[in-house]
Amino acid sequence: MRLRNRVTLAVTTVTVLTLAAASVATLLLVRREELLDLDRALFAQARLVSRLVSLTDPLHPVLTEGAAEVPEHYEPSTQYVAVYDDNGTPLAWQSFRVVPRLSELGVRKHLPPDGASADLEEDGKSLRAIVIPMRRQPGYSLLYAASREEVDADVVFLGRLYAILLVVASILTIIVARWFGRRLASDVQEIASIARTVAQGDLGARAGERIRGSTETRELAADLDHMISQLSALVVAQRTFISHAAHELMSPLATLRGELQLALRRPRSVQEHEDVLKQALDDVQSLVTLSEDLLTLARAETTAGAPAETALTDLIADATRAAKGGAIARGVAIIERRGEANVQATRVRGARRELSRALRNLIDNAVSHSKTGQSVTIAVGLEGDEARIVVEDEGPGVVPSDRQGIFEPFFRGARERGESDQGVGLGLAIARQIARRSGGDVELDARFGPPGARFVLLLSRALPGADT
Ligand SMILES: Nc1ncnc2c1ncn2[C@@H]1O[C@H](COP(=O)(O)OP(=O)(O)OP(=O)(O)O)[C@@H](O)[C@H]1O
Ligand SMILES: [Mg+2]
Repeated sequence: MRLRNRVTLAVTTVTVLTLAAASVATLLLVRREELLDLDRALFAQARLVSRLVSLTDPLHPVLTEGAAEVPEHYEPSTQYVAVYDDNGTPLAWQSFRVVPRLSELGVRKHLPPDGASADLEEDGKSLRAIVIPMRRQPGYSLLYAASREEVDADVVFLGRLYAILLVVASILTIIVARWFGRRLASDVQEIASIARTVAQGDLGARAGERIRGSTETRELAADLDHMISQLSALVVAQRTFISHAAHELMSPLATLRGELQLALRRPRSVQEHEDVLKQALDDVQSLVTLSEDLLTLARAETTAGAPAETALTDLIADATRAAKGGAIARGVAIIERRGEANVQATRVRGARRELSRALRNLIDNAVSHSKTGQSVTIAVGLEGDEARIVVEDEGPGVVPSDRQGIFEPFFRGARERGESDQGVGLGLAIARQIARRSGGDVELDARFGPPGARFVLLLSRALPGADT
């Protein structure tokens, strides 16, 4: 069943049942109160009439003429009177066409002193009767009755009024419940249609202001919008990454193809062929390095952190050894400062190969931004649960406008963008991904330089006693 119909049915059923129960209870209460009022009045009049009955001849009592006073009735009403002997046989009566026997009224032979009440029909009229014992003639009883049409009319009037109210209230409830149900259902339908649109690939869809119902549905819409925004940012980042990667792979491949085509265009000496092959090998090597970088980045983004740990000194030794060749070629010195003695024994969280790669990327950057004769300093320090490896150079430093972007994949600084042999902009992104995977990070110290740049590799210290 649709949500809208379900809400309408539930609300209407509950309201109608509650109203009907309340109406019946009120009706019964009013009827009871009115009958009690009538009984009280009839009882007083019955006592009076009983005193006025002449019992000079007990077998033929004589009744006095009179009229009954019925509550809420302005005109005096016909009084119905009958006197019964101790067998319940009527001896004298007034206004009755057919006198009922006491046993027909359901009244017991031995009446209580306060008498008893009963309902009876006389000539098509409904009467209310009181039967009391006659004190002046033991065993005798007197019946005094009057019309109860006032009470019946009140009950019928109230019953009709309640029935009309019930119908009106039910119609109103159905209208309000349908409106409410439609509103609730339309919010849910709207949210579902947004989810379907997004599933079909349109990441621009938003529920936003269109949801106006309850606080819960508005919150649900806001959460959905937030999720779509996150998803859309992720997709955009992924598309950018793929297009950059394709572009970076294309350029060296195009160069390689050009060189090989040129070499085949005319006959060449063995030496010339050797030179072309060497150049091609260099190009292939840079393609292999780029592919490795891309793989490292992709793996770092998708796999969980490895539970390995590494000695701090090992990873620094590995990274400096790997960066040394480039540094010597540029005439740049690498200076290591180990700092405190306990650095030697410190172990950090993360795999040795990955961490040394992250540090090497920082050292490579420092070296490639240094001039001949300048030096790159690597300093190590411990701070609480962290180990800090600081890589500092004396180069031109990071341009302030580049600071925001340098950790994004394929971001290259304003200075480097024009230079074709300066890398592709993956080094820092890879270093940060590796560090974060092991619970650390890579930061640029913005207070330092220019001139010079300072990058800090933060690593989590491993708990003493744990093994690699
Ligand atoms: N030590 C440094 N001094 C000055 N600028 C730096 C330094 N290290 C990084 N940068 C800036 O950050 C940018 C991104 O560095 P990153 O290492 O990610 O890429 P890359 O060195 O250009 O290329 P790749 O590392 O992929 O070969 C650089 O282009 C440069 O602008
Ligand atoms: Mg780099």
